[in-house]
Amino acid sequence: MKTSKGSSHGKIIWMGEHSVVYGYSAIALPLKQANVHITLEESTTNKLESIFYTGPMDKSPDFFMPIAFLFDSLQKYFNAPDMKVILSMTLVFAGGMGSSAAIACALTRAYYRFFDKEITDQTLFEWIQLSERLAHQSPSGIDAHTVLSSNPIVFTKPSSIQPLMTSLTGYLVIVHSGIKGSTLEAVSLVKEQVLHNNGQTHIDSLGQLSLSFSRALEVHDHSLLGNFMNQAQEHLRALGVSHPAIEELITLANSFGALGAKLTGGGLGGCMIAYFTCKNKLSDFINQLSHPYWIIDLEKDFV
Ligand code: MEV
Repeated sequence: MKTSKGSSHGKIIWMGEHSVVYGYSAIALPLKQANVHITLEESTTNKLESIFYTGPMDKSPDFFMPIAFLFDSLQKYFNAPDMKVILSMTLVFAGGMGSSAAIACALTRAYYRFFDKEITDQTLFEWIQLSERLAHQSPSGIDAHTVLSSNPIVFTKPSSIQPLMTSLTGYLVIVHSGIKGSTLEAVSLVKEQVLHNNGQTHIDSLGQLSLSFSRALEVHDHSLLGNFMNQAQEHLRALGVSHPAIEELITLANSFGALGAKLTGGGLGGCMIAYFTCKNKLSDFINQLSHPYWIIDLEKDFV
């Protein structure tokens, strides 16, 4: 029986979520430690096998619909026989870690391999955005680009992707709050704030912080980086996209000597990130955690 495989990895946004939707630049990093693997297998019916659902693809749960739609589009595009999709992942779904983009990327790669077709990153990006538009309504494209990239990027809508050129040091720890986030809800909440309250002021401040953050990265000013992360969190909180469980983790990280901490991704739950330069302080912090976490060694994890 013919099979093929496709994989991808998660992403985290270090600085600039939400303001990136309004045209400001954002800094994102691939999270290669958390990934998605898909096996595509010729079958008698179209079905999905995964830890959260096993059954007919067209009966998959609502949160999986954007991927089921992409599956349907790829089936039609390749005029494919019925397929079984086996999904396994170490990425957490709805955690602000780019799971929907990573699954879309892995699925598309598996299809192109199944049919022995080459695919460019641009075409892959377009397929990912097809399902991301259903998942997020107006995705900036940062998630899709970061799950395609092996290295940190600076992204500005619609299509400017620059590698982050500066050498990085220190550690980012990503901690899941245990609360499912919703990018779709968070993006519409921010839109409401922009249309009816003073949301635009916070978006502009977040955008300016992203720019200042890039400059602080160039001069390796670690405490300023942490300070900008903390400031960003104040604006994200004011926009209503934080969550008490995220705030609790931020307070804990700060009490263990993090230089800065904030939510990452859409918010309303999901993950927080904290920046440490001292390995001992980082170890003391993670020893307190009962939630899943991932560590990025900024010096070693990228080329
Ligand atoms: C989601 O990972 C990041 C947001 O800025 C939405 C987007 O950029 O599409 C919240």
